[in-house]
Amino acid sequence: MLFVAMMFYGTPLYSGEYHAVKEKTYSGTTETLVCSQCHTMHGSQGGSSMIYGGVDAQYKGLIRAATIVQLCKTCHENNSLGMSNPTPPDVWNNTLGYLASAGDFNDRNPSTQNEANRHSIDNTNLTPPGASGSGWPIAYFSCESCHNQHGNKNYRNLHVRPGNSSSDITVNYRLNSTGNCSDGTVSPCDVNLVTTSGLPAGQTNLYKFNRTNVTFIKAGSSSRGVARWCGGCHNDFQGGGADTNMGGSTSGDVNTGTPWIRHPVRDVSINEANTNGHADRSNWAGITPTSSRVRAVNPDDTDPTSGNADEEPFCLSCHYAHGGGNKLAGADPTINHSNLVMIDGNGVLNIEASPSDTFIPLDSASASRARVRNLCQQCHNQ
Ligand code: HEC
Ligand code: HEC
Ligand code: HEC
Ligand code: HEC
Ligand code: HEC
Ligand code: HEC
Repeated sequence: MLFVAMMFYGTPLYSGEYHAVKEKTYSGTTETLVCSQCHTMHGSQGGSSMIYGGVDAQYKGLIRAATIVQLCKTCHENNSLGMSNPTPPDVWNNTLGYLASAGDFNDRNPSTQNEANRHSIDNTNLTPPGASGSGWPIAYFSCESCHNQHGNKNYRNLHVRPGNSSSDITVNYRLNSTGNCSDGTVSPCDVNLVTTSGLPAGQTNLYKFNRTNVTFIKAGSSSRGVARWCGGCHNDFQGGGADTNMGGSTSGDVNTGTPWIRHPVRDVSINEANTNGHADRSNWAGITPTSSRVRAVNPDDTDPTSGNADEEPFCLSCHYAHGGGNKLAGADPTINHSNLVMIDGNGVLNIEASPSDTFIPLDSASASRARVRNLCQQCHNQ
C-alpha cells in the first residue's frame, strides 16, 4: 500500500482550520490536508491500490474508503495512520490521553457500539427526534452530516446548514488576543479556548480538543450558537423563552403562567432562575473543584459567585455531541442513553479517559455512583 507524502507542520493551526486548503486558512500560508489524503483519481498509483487497507476497488466520490465514516475513521480512530504534528483527535474510543470535548462514538470496556448512547452514524434513513418541516429522513447519516470535510469558518468545521436549515447558522470561534472571530466579526465569539492572551495556548494540537479547554461565551440566538445549530436537525427542541415549542418567557418562568414545556437551552440564566426560585445560584457557585461544574454558556467568561451567575444551560450542558461513550466496565447499557453527561459522587464524568480514573458506574452499588441527577442538582439543588 502506498501513502502519498503527508505534509507536517509545526505551526499551530486555529481550531476549525484543519481540512481547509491553505488559501482559505487565516494566515493563508499553512496547508493542512492534501486532496490525495482522501481522494484517488483512478484508485491506483504505481500499480498499487490507493484505497486505505489496500483492496482493489473504487468508490463513489473518488474517496479512498468504502464509506465516508470509514474514511474519517482511518485517521480519527486510534490514529491508525500514525500521524503526528498534528495527531488526528480520536473520536471513536479515545485512547490518546485527553478528555474528548465531543465524547466518544464507542463505549469502552468492553468496546461496544451502543446505538442508544451515540449519534448513529453509518446508518441510513434516520429522522432526528424533534425534526420538523421537510427534508427527512437523512439518507446516509455520517460525519459529513455535521462537519464540512473541506473545512470552513465555523467551529470544528461545523456545517453552516445542518439538516434542513434554510439559512446559515454561525458557530464561530476566537482566533487571537485582539478578539477576532473566525467569521470576521469581533469578540465575543461563540467558542473560546481557555487562554485569552496572545495566540491561545489551547490552539495546539490535541490540547485544543480537551473538554476543559473549550468554553462557550456568546449567548445563543435564532441564527447562531450551539443550540441553534443542533436545532438544524432537532428543530423542536431548540428556541428562546416564549417560543411556542419551548414555553417560558425571555426572563424564564416568572411564576405568572409562563411555565417551560421543554428545558431552556439558550437564553435564560441562573441569575434569572434564582430570582424565579427555580435554581440555586449559591449551590452552583460553590461547586468544587470548579472543573467538575457542568458546561454552560458563560457570557461574562467569569466564574459564578453566590451573587452573580450569568451562565445559561444549553445542549452541551447535558449531552455530548458524538456520544456518551467510555463508560467503564459494569455500567448497564440500558440506562446509558441519549448521549448524556453523567457525573459520579466524586465529580468524575462518564467519558473520563482511562480505566485508572475513579469513575463509579451508574449501576454500581456505591452510594457515589454516577447519575444524571448529579448534573441537574448542580443548578437546581432540589
Ligand atoms: C489523512 C488523515 C485525516 C482524514 C482522512 C480525516 N481527518 Fe480530520 N483531522 C486530521 C487531523 C490530523 C486533524 C487535527 C488537526 C489539528 O490539530 O489542527 C483533524 C481535525 C479534524 C477536525 C477538527 C478541526 C478543528 O476544529 O480543529 C474535524 C471536525 C475533522 N478532522 C473531521 C474529519 C472528517 C469529518 C473526516 C472525514 C470526511 C476527516 N476528518 C478525515 C486528519 C484527518
Ligand atoms: C478529509 C478528507 C478530504 C479531503 C482532504 C478532501 N476531500 Fe473532497 N471530499 C471528501 C468527501 C468525504 C467527499 C464526499 C464524497 C461523497 O459524497 O461520496 C468529497 C467530495 C469532493 C467533491 C465533490 C463534491 C463537492 O464538494 O464538490 C470534490 C469536487 C472534491 N471533494 C474535491 C476535493 C479537492 C480538490 C480537495 C483538495 C483541495 C479535496 N476534495 C480534499 C473528502 C475530502
Ligand atoms: C445532521 C442532523 C443532526 C444534527 C446537526 C444533530 N443531530 Fe442529534 N440526532 C440526529 C439523528 C438522525 C438522530 C437519531 C439517530 C440517532 O440516535 O443517532 C439524533 C439523535 C440524537 C440524540 C439521541 C441519541 C440516541 O441514541 O438516543 C441526542 C441526545 C442528540 N441527537 C443530540 C444532539 C445534539 C446535542 C446536537 C448538537 C450538538 C445534535 N444532536 C445535532 C441528527 C442530528
Ligand atoms: C451530530 C453531529 C455530528 C456528527 C454526526 C459528527 N460530529 Fe464531530 N463534532 C460535532 C460537534 C458539535 C463537535 C464539537 C463538540 C464540542 O466541542 O463539545 C464535534 C467535534 C469533533 C472533533 C473535535 C474533537 C472533539 O472531541 O471535540 C472531531 C475531530 C470530529 N468532531 C470529527 C468527527 C468525525 C470523524 C465524525 C464521524 C466519525 C463526526 N465528527 C461526526 C458534531 C458531529
Ligand atoms: C446549567 C444549569 C442547569 C442544568 C444542568 C439543568 N438545569 Fe433545569 N433549568 C435551568 C434554568 C436556568 C432553568 C430556567 C428556570 C426559570 O425559568 O426560572 C431551568 C428550568 C428547568 C425546569 C422548568 C422549571 C420551571 O419552573 O418552568 C425543570 C423542570 C428543569 N429545569 C429540570 C432539570 C433537570 C431534570 C435537569 C437534569 C436533567 C436540569 N434541569 C439541568 C438550569 C439548569
Ligand atoms: C437539562 C438537560 C438537557 C438539555 C439542556 C438538553 N437536553 Fe436533550 N435530553 C436530556 C435528557 C435527560 C434526555 C432523555 C429524554 C428526556 O428526558 O426527554 C434528552 C433527550 C434528547 C434527545 C433524544 C430524544 C429521543 O426521542 O430519543 C435529543 C435528540 C436531544 N435530547 C437533543 C437536545 C438538543 C438538540 C438540545 C439543545 C437544543 C438538548 N437536547 C438540550 C437532557 C437535556
